Amino acid sequence: MAVSVLVGVQWGDEGKGKIIDVLTRDAEMVVRFQGGNNAGHTVEAEDRKLVLHLVPSGILREGTACVIGNGVVVDPIGLMQEMKGLTDQGISVANVQLSDRCHLIMPWHKLLDAYNEGKAAPGKKIGTTKRGIGPAYASKANRTGIRGVEILNKSRFETLFRAEAAEYNKLYPAHGSELLDVDKAWEEMSVAIDYLTPYVTDTTVSINAAYKAGKSVLLEGAQGAFLDIDHGTYPFVTSSNTTSGGACTGAALPPRAISNVWGVLKAYTTRVGEGPFPTEQDNEIGSFLQNKGGEFGATTGRPRRCGWLDIVGARYSCMVNGVDLLAVTKLDVLDELDEIKICTAYKINGEIRENFPADTTLLDHVEAIYETLPGWKSDTTKAKCWEDLPEKAQKYLLRVAELLDAKIGIVSVGPDRDQTFRTA
Ligand code: GDP
Ligand code: IMO
Ligand code: MG
Repeated sequence: MAVSVLVGVQWGDEGKGKIIDVLTRDAEMVVRFQGGNNAGHTVEAEDRKLVLHLVPSGILREGTACVIGNGVVVDPIGLMQEMKGLTDQGISVANVQLSDRCHLIMPWHKLLDAYNEGKAAPGKKIGTTKRGIGPAYASKANRTGIRGVEILNKSRFETLFRAEAAEYNKLYPAHGSELLDVDKAWEEMSVAIDYLTPYVTDTTVSINAAYKAGKSVLLEGAQGAFLDIDHGTYPFVTSSNTTSGGACTGAALPPRAISNVWGVLKAYTTRVGEGPFPTEQDNEIGSFLQNKGGEFGATTGRPRRCGWLDIVGARYSCMVNGVDLLAVTKLDVLDELDEIKICTAYKINGEIRENFPADTTLLDHVEAIYETLPGWKSDTTKAKCWEDLPEKAQKYLLRVAELLDAKIGIVSVGPDRDQTFRTA
């Protein structure tokens, strides 16, 4: 069986968690390869709703190995709380594996995240989740990070922890960042380290063993392509490679291991946090999408900004990700609309552009060129196959696929696991 990657095509929150859960019916291992607990992946099945932040979305499938790979930045306290929360709900976490090469989010990373956001000039704030993601990846690149392997050597961990914490306290509180109570912080960390110790392992070995044994492995992306640190709307991005290429380094698999890339595409567009959004509808359409789609952040609860589907961005994203099959989600949210718009090109300073520009400032000046399609004005939430969809909904999907030069493999018409069907 194959190794597949699943990534978000837009600004995150496309419904990746739901699609992973559906696809995990056939997968033996699910691996998170980047990001951290900035992610909020919702899984709804059997009258249960879970929001997962670090634990892979295969956790509801008994027997599926759920691996947190080396490319992830892990908040030990956050992960412990999440795993305990799952256990309290009767969900086994026995199959969770935590990479000994992952980097750990330390308390000073969270303080720095808040500090950086607080001191940013107007227009420069990223609107981060304040989970310490950027500073933790910065420490990794700076070669001052603390890795999962240190969990297995607590006294060495404590030495590193106290040294880095002291460095933080020396440099930042003088400039207005919060002073860290090192003893208290270590006490809290120590509890998390003890809890996580049995789960730390060399996931490079276990993932490659699964691949070599021909098991089906699903690599679960977090965030989305427009938040990718190389390909997104820089600097309004997250700090990892969210696109499919990141799956190789973040899960420790060779490129040739990957045989299929799923791109999850919301039938419209949302964005949480700051930064340009060419198809944003700051009007009654945006409010409609927000309310009907329940567009409030699964991690921070912040309202998500909403707008029409942006083909210019999505086309770029499909190209960079090498999307083989699209999973189109939240089609049902469009059910009541009289007409639905798709942005097919950008007009910037009078010039028509079909390519996503590198200059993020240009995105603030986009006049979106729309194609308008008629709404289907009927309920799709009970559709079980392509033929159950109203003709106009089929036409919408076919037009999206045509514009993206991509094939649709899954359509999702509601949050529940059962409100999903394969089309390829
Ligand atoms: P992720 O971060 O990509 O996993 O997505 P989130 O879980 O943050 O946000 C997606 C939201 O949409 C969640 O509340 C899901 O339960 C919900 N959802 C997923 N697919 C559908 C769908 O097809 N229709 C509707 N109405 N809701 C969906
Ligand atoms: P999932 O996996 C949507 C956004 C933040 C902010 C920017 C940087 O659920 O799709 P960070 O905390 O990563 O430094 O914030 O990225 N962001 C997300 N937006 N979905 C996510 O994850 C996100 N993770 C981060 O809102 O704009
Ligand atoms: Mg989310």
